[in-house]
Amino acid sequence: METNLIPVGIIGTGSYVPDQVVTNKDLEKIVDTSDEWIVTRTGISERRKAQSHMATSDLSILAAQRAIEAAGIKPEDLDLIIVATITPDMFFPSTACFVQEKIGAAKAAAFDLSAACTGFIYGVSVASQFIATGMYKYVLVIGAETLTRILNPADRNTLVIFGDGAGAAVLGPVETGKGFLSFDLGSDGSGAELLCQEGGGSRLPASIETIEKGKHYLTMAGNEVYKFAVRIMGEASIKALDKAGLTRESVDFLVPHQANIRIVDAAVKRLQLPAEKVYINLDKYGNMSGASIPVALDEAVRKNKIKKDDIVVLVGFGAGLTWGSCVLRWNY
Ligand code: ACO
Repeated sequence: METNLIPVGIIGTGSYVPDQVVTNKDLEKIVDTSDEWIVTRTGISERRKAQSHMATSDLSILAAQRAIEAAGIKPEDLDLIIVATITPDMFFPSTACFVQEKIGAAKAAAFDLSAACTGFIYGVSVASQFIATGMYKYVLVIGAETLTRILNPADRNTLVIFGDGAGAAVLGPVETGKGFLSFDLGSDGSGAELLCQEGGGSRLPASIETIEKGKHYLTMAGNEVYKFAVRIMGEASIKALDKAGLTRESVDFLVPHQANIRIVDAAVKRLQLPAEKVYINLDKYGNMSGASIPVALDEAVRKNKIKKDDIVVLVGFGAGLTWGSCVLRWNY
């Protein structure tokens, strides 16, 4: 189909993870768990924790500056900043506004997007519409989280899984036939309560009681989320490939959401990909929700795992429940 839409791709990536490492052995001292249980059930060995003076925007800024440098543009060239996060600096204003000011993106509009672990995929799909229609030229999309701030220190179900970090990508116009080829986004609100932070919003405003009951912490029905994730990661990847007119045989590289090695393995099996075509860093960082995919993508790009013209699939799922995938023909 002929269209007047401008082809859009990722023209630079960047990431930042905090220096402080929390190992499984460290967690053994806090909750009833073991390195052996965590590694076998999740594949995670350690995760990062942001220093107490650093908020989500601070992590975002460092990732953003690296992405902007890699893209070879200036902050003033940015037309829009989207921060995908479920751990914003504040409920309002948006974390994107803090980033916009700190990086000096004077002409950029800015907003946050909430789709949990799928946030980066939702973010690039939104960003690409602005560029494809010609409304904007350069959009910065950041996935960033300080999840350790909302973890219950007594809950072994969640404490072992999540970590902090930020990843970013600059999107811009690319050659015809390159860049994003398709997106597949979805949500199923019937699973909203499987993974949530119940307290502090308009339904259950913060009070002494909500704090005493630990309602300000993230809660997760791990097993239910697991079953959904194992199914949806493969399905969403295949759907995006279908929309791009491609098959799983054409995939050169997969960057999955880094939730749990068993969930990633299920997606890899469905796509029948060899290990060298899949990027894994969850052993080092755990699940960084919205930051997982862009951090993994940036590492893969910087390690030259992704080459020009490669067919790359990004796929994720998360709270909402939400899911999303996209297919790109890598343009640099
Ligand atoms: N250490 C030791 N034992 C544990 C731990 C732990 N950290 N956590 C749970 N257990 C115990 C359970 O209590 C249970 O014990 P029981 O049999 O005596 O009741 C046993 O281990 C098995 O528990 P399951 O929940 O069945 O363990 P499972 O194999 O499902 O693994 C896990 C749990 C890792 C949470 C898995 O379900 C999972 O990965 N779920 C998906 C989570 C996820 O990916 N979320 C991503 C979205 S995040 C976002 O959008 C913000």
